[in-house]
Amino acid sequence: MENTQISMPRIGDKAPAFKAVTTQGEIDFPAQYAGNWIILFSHPADFTPVCTSEFMTFASMEDKFSELNCKLVGLSVDGLYSHIAWLRTIKDKIEYKGMKNVEVKFPLIEDITMEVAKMYGMMQPGESSTKAVRAVFVIDPKGIIRTIIYYPLSMGRNFDELLRVLQALQAADAFACATPADWRPGDDVIVPPAGSCGVAKDRMDGKEAGVTCHDWFFCTRKITKEKVLDTIKKKK
Ligand code: BEZ
Repeated sequence: MENTQISMPRIGDKAPAFKAVTTQGEIDFPAQYAGNWIILFSHPADFTPVCTSEFMTFASMEDKFSELNCKLVGLSVDGLYSHIAWLRTIKDKIEYKGMKNVEVKFPLIEDITMEVAKMYGMMQPGESSTKAVRAVFVIDPKGIIRTIIYYPLSMGRNFDELLRVLQALQAADAFACATPADWRPGDDVIVPPAGSCGVAKDRMDGKEAGVTCHDWFFCTRKITKEKVLDTIKKKK
């Protein structure tokens, strides 16, 4: 394993900027996506089975991410012609779990120099020095990194979880709340800690409308699934 210091972006950082060639033309990242959420994700290599299953799944769900004003951007350290050939093979030849003729319409970055992969900490030499790990960066409309998830080469991602992550981030912003374990739209959200003793007492006494307290530090309130989804879908 290399012993070099690798700097990696962190949650709360501005997404590092770069220009790159993709299967959809050149992109200026993240500037051209200002006002959109972005999921930037890396995969280890074209023409490999786990990555193929991931691309088919993610591309099939792209509309669900679009409804939440989120653009998808892929990356591997393969070249453009490899990307194009692989995506064409997926569309023309691969049938998997009821998905067929899947067209990947989101951009896939070529990064043969590994410049972007290194900038985003996607190269993790303990796992592989020649392939990017499966990294996921969720970036908000102001270009701030809000969630980072890494998976090893052997494990395909759960794209329902990535959708849940996006919904939870957007709900937290829209309703100034936090989301508990395994939260999904329609489940109770966590209200911020009470600002004063008086408020805390009102909460504990059940006097704050719609708020249930499990203890003084742990209070929740209901927001219906419809309200969450209507709000985050409209929040462009
Ligand atoms: C795959 O996508 O199947 C894969 C890629 C690199 C290493 C192991 C598996």
